[in-house]
Amino acid sequence: MARVLIENVTKSYGKTEVIHGIDTVIEDGEFIVIVGPSGCGKSTLLRMIAGLEEISSGTISIGERVVNDLEPKDRDIAMVFQNYALYPHMTVFKNMAYGLKLRNFSKNDIKQRVDQAAKLLQLEDLLERKPRQLSGGQRQRVAMGRCIVREPKVFLFDEPLSNLDAKLRVQMRLELRNLHKRLKVTSIYVTHDQVEAMTLGDRLVVINDGYAEQIGSPIDLYERPATKFVAGFLGSPSMNFIDARISADGRMAELPGTFSLALGSDVTVGQEGRAVTIGIRPEHFSLAEEEQSAFSLKIDHAEFHGADTIIYGRIADNDRLLTVRLPHRHEINLEKHLFLAVAPEHIHFFDQKTGKRI
Ligand SMILES: Nc1ncnc2c1ncn2[C@@H]1O[C@H](COP(=O)(O)OP(=O)(O)O)[C@@H](O)[C@H]1O
Ligand SMILES: [Mg+2]
Repeated sequence: MARVLIENVTKSYGKTEVIHGIDTVIEDGEFIVIVGPSGCGKSTLLRMIAGLEEISSGTISIGERVVNDLEPKDRDIAMVFQNYALYPHMTVFKNMAYGLKLRNFSKNDIKQRVDQAAKLLQLEDLLERKPRQLSGGQRQRVAMGRCIVREPKVFLFDEPLSNLDAKLRVQMRLELRNLHKRLKVTSIYVTHDQVEAMTLGDRLVVINDGYAEQIGSPIDLYERPATKFVAGFLGSPSMNFIDARISADGRMAELPGTFSLALGSDVTVGQEGRAVTIGIRPEHFSLAEEEQSAFSLKIDHAEFHGADTIIYGRIADNDRLLTVRLPHRHEINLEKHLFLAVAPEHIHFFDQKTGKRI
């Protein structure tokens, strides 16, 4: 096992820099998820750790060794891709054994390692089957098995579940988590899917356009996003953002129009009169009597999702779009307004220009 140290790493393709100096430590045995929208540089970063891309500047260490100039095969890593091509003409056993055979492991060693991995992955009864005789989930497990038998110091995953259907993805997520609990091998997992990131990672690195926006536990990132980008990226439906002004006495956030939100006393000290962007998650609105509400919402439409109801509407006097999530099933009368309140502790503040949390 090993910790992975990434120090001021950049990557340029020709004159275009796509990774702008990322610093992070992945602790020994940790499961870290690199998450961000498509094209932000996740795969590039992972491929630099794997040795499949050259590092333009900075240092990557695995364990005690700087690996910048090491070949992928000398880095003690194993990488699982989205397209995990198994050899179709080989049995499950042979698929898992192949890499070891190439490395001249003895027959006994190979059998012992494959049997152990098969047990861990519950593939013991399938060892003589060919890939076409397996389900998608079983094939994915064989691909994992091929990596496990090599006993790498670090697992790297690049969107390994994106080709699977929704139900299987959830199941594989649990299996990966359990596997990690048993093996405790340092794991770096890339995905654009924020739910996958939140559920798998001990910590997340949120990447935006080649910059690490924030690094932390899923709960920290969700509850205290450092930037508007992180706030909007994590959580579904996304956080609502409304431009507003903190009142002169600091006690209200004045929305465009006539409505205002009552604020907690300590958040806005020193921010009186400042123009800000406020953020409110859809689940943090509550229904209120008209007199206790902060504002009313004209409803555009409502979706019943089973466990909750998602309502799309506009703030009555300024037409800002809002998404509201109410638990359970609500009979929504589209003709009526919804009166909403927000607890002050659920209001986030961001600088209008930089997007940084205030
Ligand atoms: N071989 C390459 N040559 C030039 N640009 C590339 C190459 N590979 C990736 N890029 C660019 O680098 C950026 C990051 O890509 P990538 O790491 O694949 O993103 P992600 O995995 O987050 O979707 C993108 O703008 C992409 O177009
Ligand atoms: Mg990618």
